[in-house]
Amino acid sequence: MNQNQAIKIQHLNKSFGKGDAYVDVIHDANFTINKGELVALIAPSGAGKTTLLMMLGCVESPDSGTIWLGDEKVYENKWLTKETRKIRREKIGFIFQAHYLIPFLNIVDNLTLLPQTNKVKDEESKQKARELLEYFDIAEKENAMPSQLSGGQNQRVAIARALINDPEIVLADEPTAALDTNRSIDVVKMLKKIAIQRDVAIVMVTHDERMLEYCDKIMKIENKTIVFNDA
Ligand SMILES: Nc1ncnc2c1ncn2[C@@H]1O[C@H](COP(=O)(O)OP(=O)(O)OP(=O)(O)O)[C@@H](O)[C@H]1O
Ligand SMILES: [Mg+2]
Repeated sequence: MNQNQAIKIQHLNKSFGKGDAYVDVIHDANFTINKGELVALIAPSGAGKTTLLMMLGCVESPDSGTIWLGDEKVYENKWLTKETRKIRREKIGFIFQAHYLIPFLNIVDNLTLLPQTNKVKDEESKQKARELLEYFDIAEKENAMPSQLSGGQNQRVAIARALINDPEIVLADEPTAALDTNRSIDVVKMLKKIAIQRDVAIVMVTHDERMLEYCDKIMKIENKTIVFNDA
């Protein structure tokens, strides 16, 4: 096994529906993503980008194949643990197109919600949240409400939230779609820095070609399978 591997996929298949409603989405996908890499995932609408991310995040079940997350084989024609939630909590951070911060909690409480459900002590999780807010240059907003922040600032909080449990993998579904070009470039550069400094593998869905130059690899879904281009 490659010590550096964060995600390894073998012979992955996924379809939805039956009969007339049948859609074959991913057919015999094979790839490896290493720690420290920022990978762009691009493909037309409906090609299966979100479905692929959700399988990597142990949210959506494949039909067959193998998924390794780090050195743990988590799926081989079935989930190898009943606790896929635990894998998600411990290994994976999610970032979505909308920030999904909780409107009635201030910024620091939005960040500490997940660690607290993982039974991390209050002071410890607050400390961690403040370090991340510092890292993302929004420390002065810790007591503000999400409605008092700009779109870009809220998205930085959402990225901080995705990192609060020190995940090995971050899955980002169009994280810059709601932002203007400069803010988008800031967010992608930030993701690149996180990948390098924290040795995290990041898969980022994007429709914006201007973001590709900041990524290490470009992953495409073509003819229902995965192909790579160097960025
Ligand atoms: N729960 C579901 N039930 C049935 N079909 C589904 C389901 N989820 C996705 N699909 C179908 O699978 C295909 C891939 O959808 P997916 O959402 O992964 O595409 P996408 O590449 O993320 O598209 P977009 O760029 O529009 O977000 C589509 O044909 C979609 O209709
Ligand atoms: Mg999608």
